[in-house]
Amino acid sequence: MTKIKATNITWHEGHVDRSERETMLKQKGALIWMTGLSGSGKSTIAYTLEHALVQRGHLAYVLDGDNIRFGLNKNLGFSPEDRTENIRRIGEVGKLFADAGIITITAFISPYRDDRDVARETIGSEDFFECFCDTPLDVCEERDPKGLYKKARAGEIKGFTGIDAPYEAPNKPELVIDTSKRSPQEAAVELCAMLEKAGKITALGE
Ligand code: ADX
Repeated sequence: MTKIKATNITWHEGHVDRSERETMLKQKGALIWMTGLSGSGKSTIAYTLEHALVQRGHLAYVLDGDNIRFGLNKNLGFSPEDRTENIRRIGEVGKLFADAGIITITAFISPYRDDRDVARETIGSEDFFECFCDTPLDVCEERDPKGLYKKARAGEIKGFTGIDAPYEAPNKPELVIDTSKRSPQEAAVELCAMLEKAGKITALGE
């Protein structure tokens, strides 16, 4: 865990607690953590799930790796240290969003097991749902939606995950999605069922 650097700071409690917000929203805050190789389907599934949840009347929001790197994390690259900081910040932002009562879905490669475990510890296991997009490298490379694998193979991108930088698959994720066998819609249905089972949302018709 990163130590707090600042001194002379005091924690302020608000007047509204999380459960009041959750009652208002008729849902419970959660952090769904999509992890997997580039091109494994994380963002597609995340946005499909967000859409499905909003259609069911829930407040959901995606924090997407590429998008976040245009703003909040624009000062970070792809060195191991920068990736760790990328994930640390998203763990913290995800914790804030979940405290706001929002069903938050992150879509980051998050290649290091330790970094994902830090995110889990930061928010607490009851709110953290690690979902592994278990798409084989050859399938991701075949899809190559951004043409990045081609560039990495040609040596034009150094340290590309799965080619010359590591990806550590989760040992005990809450959900594994094989995107070569499941459509994004089917994955979203599975994720909704997982949220219902955990009591984060109520089942349709209840
Ligand atoms: S992470 O490793 O720090 O979690 P993140 O999910 O934010 O990565 O960003 C990954 C995206 O950045 C990829 O989908 C791809 O579009 C782009 N990218 C650019 N360079 C690299 C690289 N060296 N390795 C992996 N992805 C890269």
